Amino acid sequence: DCIKDSFPKDFLWGVAISAKQAEGAKDRAITVADLQDYNPNDTSKVKGDLSKQEILDRLQHPDQYYFPKKQGINFYETYQEDIKLLTEMGIKCFRFSISWARIYPNGAEQEVSETGLQFYEHILDMLKERQIEPIVTLYHDDMPVDLALKYNGFMSKKVIDLYVEYATVVMKRFKDKVTYWIPVNQINLTRVGLSSIGVIKDTVTNLDKIKYQGVHHKFIACAKVKEIGVKINPSFKFGAMLADFLVNPMTCKPEDVSFATEKNQMTMYFYADVQLRGKYPGYAIRYFKDNGIDIEMNQDELELIARHTLDFLAISYYNSNVVSANKNSMAIGDSQLNPYLKANPWGWTINPLGLYDGFLRYWDRYEKPLMIAENGFGQIEELPENHIIQDDYRIDYIQEHIKAIQKAIQHGVEVFAYCAWSPIDMVSSGTSEMKKRYGFIYNDQDDFGNGTYQRYPKASFYWYQSLIKKNGMID
Ligand code: BG6
Repeated sequence: DCIKDSFPKDFLWGVAISAKQAEGAKDRAITVADLQDYNPNDTSKVKGDLSKQEILDRLQHPDQYYFPKKQGINFYETYQEDIKLLTEMGIKCFRFSISWARIYPNGAEQEVSETGLQFYEHILDMLKERQIEPIVTLYHDDMPVDLALKYNGFMSKKVIDLYVEYATVVMKRFKDKVTYWIPVNQINLTRVGLSSIGVIKDTVTNLDKIKYQGVHHKFIACAKVKEIGVKINPSFKFGAMLADFLVNPMTCKPEDVSFATEKNQMTMYFYADVQLRGKYPGYAIRYFKDNGIDIEMNQDELELIARHTLDFLAISYYNSNVVSANKNSMAIGDSQLNPYLKANPWGWTINPLGLYDGFLRYWDRYEKPLMIAENGFGQIEELPENHIIQDDYRIDYIQEHIKAIQKAIQHGVEVFAYCAWSPIDMVSSGTSEMKKRYGFIYNDQDDFGNGTYQRYPKASFYWYQSLIKKNGMID
């Protein structure tokens, strides 16, 4: 039962992190992610669905809360040691995000920070020295809070301009150091709230319209970034990125099957159809009409999107679910558990074959190179006396998903990178807990920021190291 050596020679084996979950807030502006307090019992607050008053209160009385993402895992100070450890693991690529609030720490309309740029420059130089390919996300759901308060985030065209300005500064500065760019993380998870578009929920009505307006503005922003980017360096490659939420029908009842098809259109394909094929598809236009969603857009914007389609498709893949026509919500994530699958303690089902199916569907539809931007397994773990966590469940999970990718490659799908989430245990995006651990490396830090922050490689660290050495061959 082994993986044959069918991965291309220059396949990029790597890991992924995000600024909001790793760096900590030192030397940068406060972001919407920072204000998500530790409160796993009320995940809406953890996810940042705060009212204007709640935001102001958090800004004025920070000592009354513990903000896990403001702390991160201290990567801003430990990055040199951390990158050395990752080099030991043998990674060929490193996906990380740049924090907008670090490039503009005094407000997104003020001066660019040389300290912020130098921080990332040093990371990029370390990677270059070690022949590790960077994959850079420009926006991983961490808008500077002043832009949420002043403009309601991506609802405003002004924020598109500010984002493009920020992206341009970064692309110019790192024009010889980066090839792969992901302008926004998981665009299909855009929802009304602070976390992904910086909209303060209680200041708006007609949430559906607002969501798709924000998405449209992100489409414009990505197209502009590509338009400017290829002038800065024609070899830049830009990726659309989706969180994999493809669903399967609960039964083979025709109604379930066609409902699953329609749901996949609006929660997945819509985004990639616009960003990779260049136009709003007919089914989406009809959906908007049927649901009274009137997006403000003009011909120039649509032409811009059509002219600057993106180059590859990046997917984060964790689990997969099923839907029934009689519970016909089109909301992303509103689905049922697949009774044939096991799940982790957070109810995330494990389905490597789902990744294979998805890759076949994406390749058939777009014929653009694919990468796994994130894939990993969250678990509660404690450091044993010998300091090596025996995380066989994680090894199994990742191994099975890598086999699924190999199978897709054997079917003719072009895949160029695999980034495991995550190299080191980090603050969870969805629940702001530390105890949901994904790392190949254990980080001694608890839900409230206590601990030594010492890093300890787990068994999976050595397993991944050996897998990379053999370019995907498993003994
Ligand atoms: C992805 C995000 O959706 O899921 C990551 O891009 C996140 O930022 C990952 O960490 C896992 O989610 P969570 O909530 O378990 O951290």
